[in-house]
Amino acid sequence: MKEYILSLDQGTTSSRAVLFNAKGEKVASVQKEYPQIFPGNGWVEHDPMDILESQLSSAREVIAKAGITAEDVAAIGIANQRETTILWDKNTGKPVYNAIVWQCRRTSEDCARMESQGLQKFFKDKTGLLIDPYFSATKIKWILENVEGVRERAEKGEILFGTVDCWLIWNLTGGRVHVTDYSNASRTMLFNIHTLEWDREILGLLGIPSCMLPEVKECSGDLGETEENIFGSRIKIAGCAGDQQAALFGQCCFREGDVKNTYGTGGFLLMNTGEKPVESRHGLLTTIAWGIGGKVNYALEGSVFVSGAAVKWLRDELCIIRTASETEELARSVEDTGGVYFVPAFVGLGAPYWKPEARGMITGLTRGTNRCHIVRATLEAMCYQTYDVLRAMEEDAGAIGSIKADGGAASNDFLMEFQADILGHSVIRPYNVESTATGAAYLAGLGCGLWGSMEELVGVSDKFREFIPSMSEGKRSDLIGGWKKAVQAAIRE
Ligand code: G3P
Repeated sequence: MKEYILSLDQGTTSSRAVLFNAKGEKVASVQKEYPQIFPGNGWVEHDPMDILESQLSSAREVIAKAGITAEDVAAIGIANQRETTILWDKNTGKPVYNAIVWQCRRTSEDCARMESQGLQKFFKDKTGLLIDPYFSATKIKWILENVEGVRERAEKGEILFGTVDCWLIWNLTGGRVHVTDYSNASRTMLFNIHTLEWDREILGLLGIPSCMLPEVKECSGDLGETEENIFGSRIKIAGCAGDQQAALFGQCCFREGDVKNTYGTGGFLLMNTGEKPVESRHGLLTTIAWGIGGKVNYALEGSVFVSGAAVKWLRDELCIIRTASETEELARSVEDTGGVYFVPAFVGLGAPYWKPEARGMITGLTRGTNRCHIVRATLEAMCYQTYDVLRAMEEDAGAIGSIKADGGAASNDFLMEFQADILGHSVIRPYNVESTATGAAYLAGLGCGLWGSMEELVGVSDKFREFIPSMSEGKRSDLIGGWKKAVQAAIRE
């Protein structure tokens, strides 16, 4: 009997494949890191073939690891790093350039120019987004303008654009299906989140041919079927969402006001705002959470560009830790950071500051500073950044209900305790912190009929642990005051 769901979680630094059973329990998982390419100052790329191969091999391995075959898999659900832009040749399937990653800042000047032309409101009204290199639109334009011959070929209908979900589906279906879903489309800065169509005016303004764009589908339902030779037999693709929206779904944040925060490469706080888009006045984005059963749900989002990626930087560049998990013990080994603040603005600052030109900074170093202080400051920075976004969200949407945490770093108890303290609000962590993969599985399970309704999913969702704040108000405001000064210094730089 087909009673497993295969979740593909294609993230910024790794591809994961996770198998869930019909009770919604995780059965097995495989994760593969793949190379990051940094060709210039603030530029970030991936090889689209690395993305594809690491994802396919993890999927094949997890099926083998669980001792099942593709015959046992009812459906695939996809959750992916969003905004990352791939253009490929429709006939050969070959990418015309590397994937330009969401973190890449190469189009900062183009964005600044559009801002200076007063286009901020034009884009915000249509797409819910702020003009920023983060989104796909200016990345597509950059490839069309800078890779020889691509514009002409695109105009002739020979080139396709897709975010990572679309690239994976196109390849999984042997080039038969060129689709994306509402949540991913809403991150391109080309999609009108009110009319639910690619926006002709924006396409005209940026010179992007509409024939490059995928069809936009709901997040749960029929999204294609894999080619037989990929897994040995065909599997339906029945769920798809951007990873942050998938995590919101995986945490069962189905009611208006429900909030989740994911500590991944970046940090992403999303609030479900129901069937009406809420416009932010405090630097947040309005985005599509999901489209299911003929209805679209919206979300407010605060996107922090560097969160867990700062811990990876401590490991890979400063080499002061060997593994991410040792950060908890190191952070606890000192009473505080000794006045050190780390603003990890490696690729500028996202919400709520939106300063693409800001750069990372460590402040307050003394002769007595050691690696434990820096490690602690790194974890604390993840919490301060969440604090900044949550305050903005409260100002836009009123009081927050429960805050649910997930993502790899959420398993760090020090981080969760400090987060609750700095927010002055309790934080709920599910036992399974892989909400992204869970969300993709839920969407696929609903889409293929393994689960009947969203209510049923609340029943299968996990147990949790709650972290309650215990810091004094005085200490909290002193610490936050210090963080604000450090952020201002990073912005001035
Ligand atoms: O918007 C970018 C986001 O989708 C990346 O997520 O999990 O790869 O940090 P992650």
